[in-house]
Amino acid sequence: MTRPAPKDAKTIACVGGGYIGAGWAACFLAQGRDVVMSDPGPDAEAKARVVIDQAWPYLKKLGLAPGASRKRFRFVGSVAEAVADADFVQESAPDREDLKIKLFAEMDKHARRDTIFASSSSAFLPSRLQSKCKHPERVVIGHPFAPSYLVPLVEVVGGKKTSKAAMKWAFDFYESVGKKSMMLKNEIESYVANRIQHVVFEEAATLVDQGICTYEDIDTAVAYGPGMRWAFAGPTTCYHLGGGKGGIRHMIDHFGWKRGDKARKALVGSIDKRYGHLEMAELEAWRDDNLLAIIKGLKPVPARKKG
Ligand SMILES: NC(=O)c1ccc[n+]([C@@H]2O[C@H](COP(=O)([O-])OP(=O)(O)OC[C@H]3O[C@@H](n4cnc5c(N)ncnc54)[C@H](O)[C@@H]3O)[C@@H](O)[C@H]2O)c1
Repeated sequence: MTRPAPKDAKTIACVGGGYIGAGWAACFLAQGRDVVMSDPGPDAEAKARVVIDQAWPYLKKLGLAPGASRKRFRFVGSVAEAVADADFVQESAPDREDLKIKLFAEMDKHARRDTIFASSSSAFLPSRLQSKCKHPERVVIGHPFAPSYLVPLVEVVGGKKTSKAAMKWAFDFYESVGKKSMMLKNEIESYVANRIQHVVFEEAATLVDQGICTYEDIDTAVAYGPGMRWAFAGPTTCYHLGGGKGGIRHMIDHFGWKRGDKARKALVGSIDKRYGHLEMAELEAWRDDNLLAIIKGLKPVPARKKG
């Protein structure tokens, strides 16, 4: 085995350097890693460098790791060359399943046999992407959010043949480059966060179709309401906070519960596990501090230029 510890993975291959792949490259460079990229698209290197340069001032403000430099970016002519010496591969080619299956088979042929591969795919089952690999146990989904250099979440999803060790390695790797990783217990198309986003978007479009409000109102309703709390607390914690001093138990008693005892226990148990050590007033102070930080930090949309 030549697989390094996740924090020591030095050379990262970015296969596909569009908006997401180049964003990943910027993130890895900022964390002091070497990045090797391949992308057959026209002017792909120049386009990737534009994204990296655009991201860099923000990554600088976030804090660069010792030794971080854009000079550690290298563009090569083939997938084989990109993955040959890689300690980790992040694939971000277009979201076409046939293309990705072929690409993973190609990466599998040329990379070291224990190098972990992650796909940025927004939708596909990892079991499908690993189906033509000789070493499928190393394949995971590592699903980011745009812009991938800044938004912390990465969903790690394994396929039927993915090893637990690969899942853990990928999870730890993303944490080591400043991301917030989350592991799905089972694979499902589109994973978790996009499924939540899709529900919100579908409901928004329905409300507009029904003449209840405009799309502008939808953004106002989310950005200035639940979205502001979701930015740090998420919907289940917000539900708990919505119950005032009685927390989640009061919410359930007050609004009723349709999902049965098992689900109720899971939700209350999760809240107790995370916040049971805090008085409600302490949790409310944490919420208010974070709300204040967001409200004070927000920048207005640049005004239309005159003329
Ligand atoms: N855009 C988003 O908001 C978003 C968010 C999360 C995940 N993703 C996922 O990230 C992946 C990339 O999306 P994107 O938005 O960056 O698309 P994009 O079109 O900006 O970039 C795709 C890049 O892949 C290159 N490419 C084409 N064939 C290739 C090959 N055989 N090998 C290597 N590169 C190849 C293209 O030239 C292009 O530069 C997709 O799987 C997508 O679902 C996108």
